[in-house]
Amino acid sequence: MSSVVANLVEIRDLHFSYGKRSILSGLQMDFPRGKVVAVMGGSGSGKTTVLRLIGGQIRPQRGHVKVQGQVVHKLNTAGLYLLRRKMGMLFQHGALFTDLTVYENVAFPLREHTDLSEELIRNLVLMKLHAVGLRNAAKLKPGEISGGMARRVALARSIALDPELIMYDEPFAGLDPISMGVTANLIRNLNTALGSTTVLVSHDVKECFAIADYVYFLSQGKIVAHGTPDEMMVSTDPYVKQFVNAEADGPVPFHYPGKSLADDLGLGVQV
Ligand SMILES: Nc1ncnc2c1ncn2[C@@H]1O[C@H](COP(=O)(O)OP(=O)(O)O)[C@@H](O)[C@H]1O
Ligand SMILES: [Mg+2]
Repeated sequence: MSSVVANLVEIRDLHFSYGKRSILSGLQMDFPRGKVVAVMGGSGSGKTTVLRLIGGQIRPQRGHVKVQGQVVHKLNTAGLYLLRRKMGMLFQHGALFTDLTVYENVAFPLREHTDLSEELIRNLVLMKLHAVGLRNAAKLKPGEISGGMARRVALARSIALDPELIMYDEPFAGLDPISMGVTANLIRNLNTALGSTTVLVSHDVKECFAIADYVYFLSQGKIVAHGTPDEMMVSTDPYVKQFVNAEADGPVPFHYPGKSLADDLGLGVQV
């Protein structure tokens, strides 16, 4: 692929809308090689949309995402396929195949994307399962392991192809506090072990701040703050403070944008 660039992923002036509804407006983000970068924000702020633009599942109306110096939305089908092979993705609610064993779940992307021999696949799967501490659970089905363990299997599956870029969408969702910590450490350690770059989408402040090198805060499709976790901890920005302290009152609106209640009720006054 093209020459080595410092930022594995670069986002410039990125605009995206669904029909007339603007979802992202004017994003500027850098994801340097080897780093873990968190994209944080409330539900509906556009985090998953950013991942879908990086993966080329959707196209921006303006601006671009570059991965390894290539503009994603200008790639042809073959180019996009090649690029996606270098990306590992842990989808939000990304479930394991319940009928397949842990082993077969991790082997799945290897069988889909490579012509490796069974012997090689076996070695790779066992290495990935070993990395997440579940080599001895290889024969079990997802229904026979805990939620935290299942998430680790999903992690192993997302790194099966040794991706240069790993994207996690809400990897801590639904986990108990201990499993959250275990998963966070694993995300950090896998990035180091693979020499990859991680995009971590989440709203969990504690976990993200513990492992991220850099954090972007997204609100209503815009970057409202960014910096290292240490910088964010002492930020006086009202949005960051509200988010970090999980306060109900602040610049983040509680209501989904749209008509006011008064208008909806047909009243001429503000409620
Ligand atoms: N396929 C779609 N069609 C229309 N609107 C969508 C679609 N997917 C997401 N949205 C809207 O885009 C906004 C951002 O969504 P998303 O990126 O999933 O947010 P987040 O991941 O931060 O919760 C939300 O308001 C959501 O309702
Ligand atoms: Mg999402």
